[in-house]
Amino acid sequence: MFSDLTDQLDALGARLREALASAGDHAALEGVRVRFLGRSGEITQVRRAIGTLSPAERPAAGKAINDAVAQFEAELESRSHELDARALEGELALAIDVTFPGIAPATGSLHPIRRAMEDACRYFERHGFAVVLGPEIETEYYNFDALNIPPDHPAREGLDSFYLRPGLLLRTHTSPMQVRTMQAHPPPIAIVVPGKCYRRDAIDARHSPMFHQIEGLLVAPGIHLGHLKGVLEGLFREVFGPKQAVRFRPSFFPFVEPGAEVDTTCPGCGGEGCKTCGGSGWIEIGGSGMVHPDVLRESGYDPAGVTGWAFGVGIERIAMVRQDIDDIRVLFENDPRVLEQLA
Ligand code: DAH
Repeated sequence: MFSDLTDQLDALGARLREALASAGDHAALEGVRVRFLGRSGEITQVRRAIGTLSPAERPAAGKAINDAVAQFEAELESRSHELDARALEGELALAIDVTFPGIAPATGSLHPIRRAMEDACRYFERHGFAVVLGPEIETEYYNFDALNIPPDHPAREGLDSFYLRPGLLLRTHTSPMQVRTMQAHPPPIAIVVPGKCYRRDAIDARHSPMFHQIEGLLVAPGIHLGHLKGVLEGLFREVFGPKQAVRFRPSFFPFVEPGAEVDTTCPGCGGEGCKTCGGSGWIEIGGSGMVHPDVLRESGYDPAGVTGWAFGVGIERIAMVRQDIDDIRVLFENDPRVLEQLA
């Protein structure tokens, strides 16, 4: 009977819809199509039933089946579009929006100590000085004796130096390169020596057992303190700013005569007096003097023919004053959050 046929088609439609709803991808969807509309699928069973109908009912039955098939195909198609749309949404969620601002890769920067050292070296290279490096493990002879520091000098006590074995220690300053260089080269000499130095100091806000110096040495006929003052003034203007002045305060170092401590205008206040300079308007940067005749002689030079000056400047001091750091440990702890601010 015709009404049986339409019931069958309705039931088939209902099952098809259920199957469509649970088909999660195109492969599953194809499975549903074959199962219901394929050559040996369920619809074919229904078509076969036409033969049991009276000839008068057959045309209407054929049409009902064709209409149902068209309807089922439309539903398959629409489910297929739905799956496509869902897949596209998923892809878009993962897609790159090329109009978004980029994330810059983190780049390193020079450490404040390295920067101060390179700035100082660049200044001296421009003025014809050679940059030379020396050994950090030094002999007692170069670190002390050759520099006129006698065996009973307090600086030689084991307390102040790191000895590897008797006669061999970590250099306590860059000054040993003065005699090493002069012994290896005849005058004139114009060098700077940047590098690490070591002393057995307890760590606090102002002391570190490892620190950096830059040593300068100029030896030639007729060299005097006026040259030193001019050169240091240029150095401080290079690393601190254009208005720096230099002040010498008489002092004693065994390897120079006369000797002087070197001050420069406090860059924090321009000389007015502030916290950085303790109100004096000046900050101490290093030591200096005219190379002692004994040191020239030890180097094979004739003090009657040449004179020279030398200086030793603290690199950490330059970096700390430049960056307004009041604790030397900041420079060695290397907390990236701090270094980023000093870059
Ligand atoms: N070497 C000394 C120190 O570490 C600094 C120094 C003073 C270096 C006077 C010099 C100089 O060249 O002439 O304390």
